[in-house]
Amino acid sequence: MSDRKATLTFSDTGKSIELPIHSGTEGPDTVDITSLYAQGKVFTFDPGFVSTASCNSSITYIDGNEGVLRYRGYPIEQLAEKSSFIEVAYLLLYGELPSKTELDDFNSVITRHTMINESLLRFFEGFHYDAHPMAMMVGVVGSLSAFYHDSTDISDPRHREISAHRLIAKLPTIAAACYKHNVGEPVMYPRNDLSYTGNFLQMMFSTPCEDYEVDPLAERAMDLLFILHADHEQNASTSTVRLAGSSGANPFACIAAGTASLWGPAHGGANEAVLDMLEQIGDVKNIDKYLAKAKDKDDPFRLMGFGHRVYKNYDPRAKIIREVCYQVLEKLADTNNPLFELAMRLEELASKDDYFLEKKLYPNVDFYSGIIYRALGIPDSMFTVMFAIARTAGWVSHWMEMLDDPKHRIGRPRQLYQGAGKRDYLPVDQR
Ligand code: CMC
Repeated sequence: MSDRKATLTFSDTGKSIELPIHSGTEGPDTVDITSLYAQGKVFTFDPGFVSTASCNSSITYIDGNEGVLRYRGYPIEQLAEKSSFIEVAYLLLYGELPSKTELDDFNSVITRHTMINESLLRFFEGFHYDAHPMAMMVGVVGSLSAFYHDSTDISDPRHREISAHRLIAKLPTIAAACYKHNVGEPVMYPRNDLSYTGNFLQMMFSTPCEDYEVDPLAERAMDLLFILHADHEQNASTSTVRLAGSSGANPFACIAAGTASLWGPAHGGANEAVLDMLEQIGDVKNIDKYLAKAKDKDDPFRLMGFGHRVYKNYDPRAKIIREVCYQVLEKLADTNNPLFELAMRLEELASKDDYFLEKKLYPNVDFYSGIIYRALGIPDSMFTVMFAIARTAGWVSHWMEMLDDPKHRIGRPRQLYQGAGKRDYLPVDQR
């Protein structure tokens, strides 16, 4: 910790407060304001946490200007090329890449936790056939806490670890059951001879009537998307998991809270919006018209899947997934579906357009992820569910990191109150 300090001076009283400055391994320094209220009787005001570091973390590092994303120090490009989602989940959770034995053991533990309690399956009967899969996910993931009492003592590190394993393992099973409920097919049980991603594809697309073979390209594309979506530091859903967990809530309830936060269109719902937009454009001949609409300041239309709040040069995840998107479209997509040709033409034209170049608006990861999922036959309503499966690895890692920190406290933001001053209650006949 350095001796650097920031001084805050009040213009009315002239009083000054010295605040320590902390440096991370990388990224901007932080001014430590924990003593500010005690010293100056003021709060800070930062809606949306634009300038606030909410915690210490050693999991993920992002540099939006340089297009950098690293998990535990490892560049996302290297992990995408050489690793697997299950190895990345281990890395996020434990901080180091596993040895061969550690990886085999982890894989085996996760594989053996993939079944869900049979009674949980009966929950689905209570949902209407067209229930949104995210609505079912939020409910069923939260209800896991009613079943696994043997791992909900959050003061016990081993309980925490078992819960983390259970969540990573069971999310794909619950997700596939949501899909089967929507399409009215029997739920397919996990198969221990398949990889994490292969097993998920099997639970989604196989039926009891015939053998199912996992397509290696579909498996690789989905595993890659799971790697790219596994963590993204203190985003809305991860912060939700941390805040819920800070009160001592059980891990299943915390991940259900994170799932709810992810559901919003400003967060996990963007890839679904890309497909909606492509359908709205409808035909290659309409692209110019829609590009003009996106550039028109008076038109609310935006090109979905372009631009990013943090990545201002390019989204490193998009660069990685673009190539696989082309392969999936070439080999697996329905070639008669004009939507895919439209998507690729839109990408080409927008990427050459001066407006998008000047504003540094490049396709983001969700431009491609939605297209890949559609090509793999996953319905749009399941896109955010895919995101939740992958992000569970990040959520449980952040939850464990927070609880492992002996100094962690309940999250309790303050506010700038702007409501009515004190007033007296009037009986209803006098109002
Ligand atoms: N289409 C047309 N113009 C755009 C777009 C777009 N997609 N994105 C930004 N702009 C313009 C915007 O109008 C503004 O113009 P001006 O300077 O003339 O006012 C300028 O570019 C800067 O945009 P901004 O609104 O200040 O940027 P932001 O950081 O607030 O917004 C964003 C980031 C992702 C919300 C936005 O780019 C957007 O709405 N993109 C489409 C939605 C999308 O694809 N979201 C998924 C993000 S990736 C998922 C994840 O990582 O969680």
